[in-house]
Amino acid sequence: MPNLTDCRDDFPILQRVLSNGQKLAFLDNAASTQRPSSVIQAISECYESYYSNVHRGIHTLSEESTERYERSRKSVATFINAKTDHEIIYTAGATAAVNTVAGSWGRQTIKQGDTILLTIAEHHANIVPWQQLSAETGCKLQFIPLDSDYRITTEAVSTALQKYQPKLFAFTAASNVLGTVSPVTDWTALAHQQGSTVLVDAAQAAPHQAMDVQAWDADFVVFSGHKVCGPTGIGVLYGRETLLESMPPFLGGGGMINRVTTEGFTAAELPEKFEAGTPPIAEAIGLEAAVKYIRSIGLEEIEQHEQTLARHAEAGLRQIEGVRVVSPENGEKSGIVSFDLSHAHAHDVAHSLSGRGIAVRAGHHCTMPLHHALEITATTRASFYFYNTREEADRLVEAIADIQEKFKPTGRRRRRRRAEGDRP
Ligand code: ALA
Repeated sequence: MPNLTDCRDDFPILQRVLSNGQKLAFLDNAASTQRPSSVIQAISECYESYYSNVHRGIHTLSEESTERYERSRKSVATFINAKTDHEIIYTAGATAAVNTVAGSWGRQTIKQGDTILLTIAEHHANIVPWQQLSAETGCKLQFIPLDSDYRITTEAVSTALQKYQPKLFAFTAASNVLGTVSPVTDWTALAHQQGSTVLVDAAQAAPHQAMDVQAWDADFVVFSGHKVCGPTGIGVLYGRETLLESMPPFLGGGGMINRVTTEGFTAAELPEKFEAGTPPIAEAIGLEAAVKYIRSIGLEEIEQHEQTLARHAEAGLRQIEGVRVVSPENGEKSGIVSFDLSHAHAHDVAHSLSGRGIAVRAGHHCTMPLHHALEITATTRASFYFYNTREEADRLVEAIADIQEKFKPTGRRRRRRRAEGDRP
């Protein structure tokens, strides 16, 4: 395992001792990562030294801000290997990026009776915008189910593509609950063979694996800044140039126009066409610092480190009686481990862990349809990143063993639960 322990010094928040005296073990990285000093400094420096609105002023600060904003776009294009930087649209987040595709490409392309194909492992950001489009257009949504080993298989993808001939196949590159990783290039190729457009939700992939949108050959790819050690309030929509060119603007306002008269407007060129209003300027500058930092650590090293930690934690959790790990036992996986305890609700588990300084997420993780399919209302999720340690993974496993024991039903509680029809 590469030694990434030194990186922890780059993250001021990781030095924190909590009010109960416990050392923080931050295992909630799938919800949002932490920021290194270089990102915090880049944002402060922007506001302290050269901040101004971009693309508008003919003065020094505006020119400097514009130069840094556009430099950020180039860095992000390189980070995901886009062909040109105007294929990078800055949005408010991954959710806003999916909504942009639904509201622009979707409204233009999708008609009544068309099908949009999703997987049951999608999080709400890649479900609800399509449900809204369905309510508007009358299109149908179909969901590819999991197999008995918590996986969406390529066979199931191929069968669904042939059966439904969808206009769009939108899927996650990595599940935020199951820890499974999708073979994006293979699924994209299969979808293109059926003539489907492809959207890849890379919110859980971008922080952890080297991305190459050209190798993926996807039509749209979305991810958020705050999950790659960058600021909140910024996300990326990558779109194939020809597609973005053919799409109408989504939001209207300043910055996205070429000319406006009382009769109407003409839209600006890419990427401004999709960036109405004042864009996330300091956030873009912070995002550039974040991708630079991540590249300096190395995505291969990051992937290897967090997988080692997650598999170590998972192996420990599987040893505890009554703990169900919601993930395939083998095969390629990410740094996420979600689980269910027979004796305690996920919220009680997360609360007890918090008392020990361990931060995890509990609930449905914005994947209610997936939890419904799994017949579980809530899970506890530990999500590792490159700054986590083996000691933190061990603390998690020890704490879970202890919590499971503490919540063990006593004779009286067990009788009451049975009488109420709860599980023993
Ligand atoms: N989708 C994010 C998560 O998994 C918010 O926590």
